[in-house]
Amino acid sequence: MGILEKQVALITGAASGIGLATAQRFAREGATIAGLDIATADETEWSGVRNTAPASILLQANVLDEASVQAAVTTVLERFGGRIDVLVNSAGVSSFGAAHELPTAEWDRVLGINLRGSFLVTKYVVPAMLARRRGSIVHIASIEGLEGMSQQLAYGVSKGGVVQMTRNMAVDYARDGIRVNCVCPGVIETPLTAPLLRDFKAIGDLVVEQHLLGRFGQPEEVAAAILFLASDEASFITGHALVVDGGYTAGRRYGA
Ligand SMILES: NC(=O)c1ccc[n+]([C@@H]2O[C@H](COP(=O)([O-])OP(=O)(O)OC[C@H]3O[C@@H](n4cnc5c(N)ncnc54)[C@H](O)[C@@H]3O)[C@@H](O)[C@H]2O)c1
Repeated sequence: MGILEKQVALITGAASGIGLATAQRFAREGATIAGLDIATADETEWSGVRNTAPASILLQANVLDEASVQAAVTTVLERFGGRIDVLVNSAGVSSFGAAHELPTAEWDRVLGINLRGSFLVTKYVVPAMLARRRGSIVHIASIEGLEGMSQQLAYGVSKGGVVQMTRNMAVDYARDGIRVNCVCPGVIETPLTAPLLRDFKAIGDLVVEQHLLGRFGQPEEVAAAILFLASDEASFITGHALVVDGGYTAGRRYGA
């Protein structure tokens, strides 16, 4: 028996990368998946979810658009009898640029998807969790929500916001049976990071060196941490930011 047996999990960003790996893992653990993404999934990859958990659905919605989020959450609640046990907010985008060269529209886009988007989905999911006095929410922050990184202003600010949003939500809902945590991944090999790792190999080599384990992470390794926080295995954990970073934030290696 899986550790999410008979649970309904809404996962944003479920068409790709960490969200997709989480959907696949949750399905293997007995959950039914309601995926939400602006993009459609690769049919072969998503069929892994559907074959394991046949009632699963993937809805198209834009987390930037409040009406689209509200409609998608309503559809999920209608489909699954008013029930969402787990919410994972994995929809996100990356961005480059220091303050003087960052277009204001790019700041708005990144903060809008990564921070406001996670707020909006949570806003519309929480009432159903409050009604059942049960729920577990996992946001996806980043090591960049804990430390600065060059040329990553909007992204880092959005992820710092996600870490603090996790704490505020944990405080607000602790006595209502709802736990709220986040993971802070290091660099994970997904379509999000593929251009960086392909086109800026010299920088990629420097960044991999900062991961003490000497490699980038895989989406399945983040999904395992998300599963732990989402499940009753983490029943006494709320308001926590769990690094899944191969030692990136643990300290520096100087080779001595
Ligand atoms: N890959 C990494 O190294 C890494 C590290 C730390 C944190 N993260 C975070 O993990 C999360 C997932 O990233 P990933 O690496 O899997 O990226 P990804 O690009 O593989 O997946 C992100 C998904 O979000 C969806 N999405 C983007 N904008 C959306 C919108 N407006 N509405 C709905 N869906 C939208 C995309 O279509 C995509 O399917 C993101 O929040 C990202 O910031 C990733």
